[in-house]
Amino acid sequence: MHEAAPVNPWVALAYLVAGVCFILALRGLSSPATSRRGNRLGMIGMGIAVVTTLVTHVPGTAICISEECSVGRFDIDWITVVEILGAIGLGAVIGLVTARRIAMTAMPQLVAAFHSLVGLAAVLVGIAAYLNPGAFGISSLVVPMIGQPFAVINPVAKVEMALGVAIGAITFSGSVIAFLKLNGNMGGKPILLPGRHGINLGVLVGILLCVAVFAHGQDTWPFWTILVASFAIGFLLIIPIGGADMPVVVSMLNSYSGWAAAAMGFTLGNTAMIVTGALVGSSGAILSYIMCRAMNRSFLSVIAGGFGATDSGGAGSGAAIDRPWKRGSAEDAAFLMSQAEQVIIVPGYGMAVAQAQHALREMGDKLKEHGVRVKYAIHPVAGRMPGHMNVLLAEANVPYDDVFELEDINAEFAQTDVAFVIGANDVTNPAAKTDKTSPIYGMPVLDVEKAKTVLFIKRSMGGVGYAGVDNELFYRDNTMMLLADAKKMVEEIVKSIE
Ligand code: TAP
Repeated sequence: MHEAAPVNPWVALAYLVAGVCFILALRGLSSPATSRRGNRLGMIGMGIAVVTTLVTHVPGTAICISEECSVGRFDIDWITVVEILGAIGLGAVIGLVTARRIAMTAMPQLVAAFHSLVGLAAVLVGIAAYLNPGAFGISSLVVPMIGQPFAVINPVAKVEMALGVAIGAITFSGSVIAFLKLNGNMGGKPILLPGRHGINLGVLVGILLCVAVFAHGQDTWPFWTILVASFAIGFLLIIPIGGADMPVVVSMLNSYSGWAAAAMGFTLGNTAMIVTGALVGSSGAILSYIMCRAMNRSFLSVIAGGFGATDSGGAGSGAAIDRPWKRGSAEDAAFLMSQAEQVIIVPGYGMAVAQAQHALREMGDKLKEHGVRVKYAIHPVAGRMPGHMNVLLAEANVPYDDVFELEDINAEFAQTDVAFVIGANDVTNPAAKTDKTSPIYGMPVLDVEKAKTVLFIKRSMGGVGYAGVDNELFYRDNTMMLLADAKKMVEEIVKSIE
């Protein structure tokens, strides 16, 4: 039997410190006030993990605590070092350029693209381990009575490898489809194959059977079948999911990528990978669950892909209702708000598109100078990614104490003079509470219509939100539409308040 290599206590300690840094990073990221510190801790943890892995894996550099390996410990294989540093440098340059160039609004597809790479990396590591098990220390030599000795991979390692490859392949193909849908290269409508649940279940059961055959036999076909079937199931699971559920899918794929990395951590015998993968896997799953609750989607239906989706697709027609509506100007808005006791600002995707957050903060400051109480109401899925609005408001130095989550502020709209909706649409749509045919029915929304006056910034009456449905709020008696680019409109309001 294969014997596990003794774990160097310094390496174990370094990985433990990295793991603690990751846990503290997640803790820090749970609040905008501590998120920068969280980010730094995550970077420190990753730095420790990468350096430790390099030091222990580059031939000739192994940190050694026993007597025997003092010989040749500095006989470094420079070619390997150059290869690794070259790959790290190349990845760093690509990451830096992409991060600098990417628009905030394109972040969900970027995240989906990154997840696809994590999945692909897990698949490639799995294939490498399968083809060269000796290099990964997962095989043992069998010496038969007759014939040549041969290496066999341990059954437990085979299960870990097969699961890692399967989850990695599902993450890869699922993330590619999510990227194409979010980037507009593929329609956002669900593609519903007849009998899809039966097909998905059949393929999943087939994968599990292949894992069992692979673990106990010597055939090669189960490994390659697992790989191909997993690529297929990733594709099949994501195509039936409509645009409105995509945020949950991206977060779920994030979770899958973590589990793929954790499984590969077992294959590579790397504790840091197991810990990090498990943290990513579980935090992604928790985030998906929270988002499902925020959008009133069933968690199971999203993971299983398209449960409960209808052939008509998720999004509505988007046709504007032919009804009278009131148009206001920047001066009207400035007058109404400066006379108010309390104004609640509701930012949405349009604020991000217009990059209106700085002008908005200025407007909030001016109103405060007039003695108005100003608060910001954030819906959990406002914008296009979790925390999208919080990040933008933090960037504009909006005080954290002025920013409230949906459940903490919803009751206040009824006692508020002005609800100022800036580029938000779906998250304010009362149809989510009343219209059972609406694709957003059941999603908790901000009760802006309960305010005395609703000021609504968008560019045109024809434009719709992410779910593609009209908003009945535009036609209410207490609503005044401010049709313009959000940044320009807010800048004009600021001038008028002055
Ligand atoms: P949306 O419903 O998408 O509405 C955006 C509004 O902004 C539209 O009314 C649009 O109308 C307006 N707009 C766009 N550009 C503008 C600009 N430059 N100036 C002024 N207005 C502009 O946004 P929301 O209320 O934030 O809702 C988010 C939606 O996205 C939800 O359906 C949610 O499920 C989905 N989603 C969320 C996430 C996450 S995790 N946050 C991820 C993906 C999808 P005009 O075109 O007429 O201007």
